[in-house]
Amino acid sequence: MPMQNYLIIGGTGGIGQAIVEQIIKNSLHKPMHIYATYHQRQPNLQADNLSWIQMNVSSEASIQAAIAEVQSQTDHIDWVINAVGMLHSESNAPEKGIRQLEPDYFMQNMAINALPSLLIAKHIKPLLKAAENCLGLSAKDAPVIFATISARVGSISDNQLGGWYSYRMSKAALNMGMKTLAIEWSRTLKHVCVVVMQPGTVDTELSKPFQGNVPEGKLFTVEYSAQKLLEVLSSMTAEQSGSFVDWSGATIPW
Ligand SMILES: NC(=O)c1ccc[n+]([C@@H]2O[C@H](COP(=O)([O-])OP(=O)(O)OC[C@H]3O[C@@H](n4cnc5c(N)ncnc54)[C@H](OP(=O)(O)O)[C@@H]3O)[C@@H](O)[C@H]2O)c1
Repeated sequence: MPMQNYLIIGGTGGIGQAIVEQIIKNSLHKPMHIYATYHQRQPNLQADNLSWIQMNVSSEASIQAAIAEVQSQTDHIDWVINAVGMLHSESNAPEKGIRQLEPDYFMQNMAINALPSLLIAKHIKPLLKAAENCLGLSAKDAPVIFATISARVGSISDNQLGGWYSYRMSKAALNMGMKTLAIEWSRTLKHVCVVVMQPGTVDTELSKPFQGNVPEGKLFTVEYSAQKLLEVLSSMTAEQSGSFVDWSGATIPW
């Protein structure tokens, strides 16, 4: 059986680390290697089939260098999941109204939530193409996966509450980028499925200040969210490339 290779970006984040842990558990059943990236928080998870690489997603040079390091260790990647994101910073919370809009915070959201998956796609493409070729994928096979954790609040048609300009707009921009990429790759990488996902409301540092409004029983653990996201990705087909889905696999309107 060919070795299956994963690249998890943001592997020390709440959801990202749970995804890495879940894939390591799954690797008891099939041979696989996991490349995971970290940023400022140092990784503490170790395994024989896990390699850590530093990546700052707001720098194209850093993305390029990290992917070059992956490429020095393997000739193909089967699954990419970008689990990086920001909602609040030391100085800013998401805007309640337009008077709180600040260009620096807006641009930071764009640089961390919107642009990185496009830059990662730009540099990782040869490794995905190699996965298609070396696995000899045909239409009936499970596709190569290029997934990004987005957010339901990036849906324009689902926006009923308003507020959170910078975060909403960065996720809407991410979604448009991935939809556009899915169309391009349907011509050049026919067995890649490009997906954006809503992970649920999950108990992490990112959601902590906003958990007060979450109804009883609706706050997911990172383990539950990661397991559901991986189940959904495992059932995707190449025809579903360009989808926006939630943790249960349900389609979210753009
Ligand atoms: N939690 C939720 O309820 C929820 C809901 C909807 C969507 N999401 C989305 O799910 C994704 C994961 O969020 P989470 O809840 O797991 O948040 P989290 O625990 O705060 O993790 C976010 C990760 O992003 C990394 N990161 C931030 N800036 C970076 C940069 N410039 N370069 C590389 N990595 C960077 C952080 O690393 P450092 O700390 O080392 O910088 C951290 O590992 C995000 O896209 C978020 O928008 C989450």
